[in-house]
Amino acid sequence: MAKKIAVLPGDGIGPEIVAEALKILSFLNTDMNLDLVFENALIGGAAYDAFGTPLPQITLNLCKNADAVLLGAVGGPKWEPLPHAVRPERGLLSIRSELNLFSNLRPAILCPQLVDASTLKPEVVSGLDIMIVRELTGGIYFGQPRGIRLLENGEQQGYNTLVYSESEIRRIAHSAFKTAQKRHKKLCSVDKANVLEVTELWRNVMTEVGKDYPDVQLTHMYVDNAAMQLVRAPKQFDVIVTTNMFGDILSDIAAMLTGSIGMLPSASLDASGKGMYEPIHGSAPDIAGKGIANPLATILSVAMMLRYTFNQPAAADRIEQAVNAALDAQVRTADIHSEGMVKVSTSEMGDTVLDALRRQS
Ligand code: NAI
Ligand code: MG
Repeated sequence: MAKKIAVLPGDGIGPEIVAEALKILSFLNTDMNLDLVFENALIGGAAYDAFGTPLPQITLNLCKNADAVLLGAVGGPKWEPLPHAVRPERGLLSIRSELNLFSNLRPAILCPQLVDASTLKPEVVSGLDIMIVRELTGGIYFGQPRGIRLLENGEQQGYNTLVYSESEIRRIAHSAFKTAQKRHKKLCSVDKANVLEVTELWRNVMTEVGKDYPDVQLTHMYVDNAAMQLVRAPKQFDVIVTTNMFGDILSDIAAMLTGSIGMLPSASLDASGKGMYEPIHGSAPDIAGKGIANPLATILSVAMMLRYTFNQPAAADRIEQAVNAALDAQVRTADIHSEGMVKVSTSEMGDTVLDALRRQS
């Protein structure tokens, strides 16, 4: 049966970069008989303008009935005056929780051609290829009770709750171990078990689930040390799994080791492997409509979709190799351009990757 992909281009550069990713996916769909069908819907500011809400029911239904979602980006200055409840970004948060996308996969890969983009020394980052698995729907960002209250002494007190149930830890553990199995079979679980009881439970459950994956080597690290190690010697890691808040911070550190926001994809998965795929960057209003955005993060998100939801590693490899070939050809969008390279537009970059794919077959 055909697999359905919900396509949500969103705002700003979203439609420009998604168009390039679809060029690549449509080509492979035909070339490798992937049997994928596509359906578009509105999200974010575009949806607010049309329906008065950033996540219309019709979009949510489409996503619920799809096998995967491809998203561009949402938001922009036009919608900033709106109340939080109808802001474009709220559409994204709602879709993550409505689809129960609890496992956020964020690779940090430094392409050898772009080693100069990093602020770290080449010997520290060259060849970097790590994956952060962040728990996305639990922990302190969702824990109750929360709020700001007035104490009897007249002082205000702010409070949030860091809470994880065993089942929440177990499901992110399975997701992380499975991810490690698809990579180099090394998993580092990051916690603060020396101070926080909830992450002591996290550590115990990780260890227990690890018994189901004897081929994966599990280690544990405290989060403060992990932050240091990511900057000191990031290549010691393969897959890192951690809580929502620790993952928020560590995944941004890891991303910036590579220095190029326009290159990094992400996946957010549910328990069945269904997922939403999107670049980590936003809608880049400063360059929207100019045709100069880098589409590679979105193209690489499609590779993740093929690998993690559709179990088509050969197709995913082909995309990653084609991106590599485009960079080898010294083709660069403005954000990754340097002297001596050929500066290209968004669609020219997409075409270069497409040509590289064609040459493979
Ligand atoms: P941003 O990621 O959109 O842009 C940061 C900087 O990186 C800008 O200078 C932009 O031009 C550049 N950039 C980003 N992606 C690029 C690409 N593919 N090619 C070339 N350059 C690129 O973050 P910013 O400016 O903080 O947010 C802009 C809007 O996007 C806001 O409304 C924000 O809420 C929203 N946003 C949406 C996200 C999403 O949809 N997942 C994530 C982050 C922000
Ligand atoms: Mg963040």
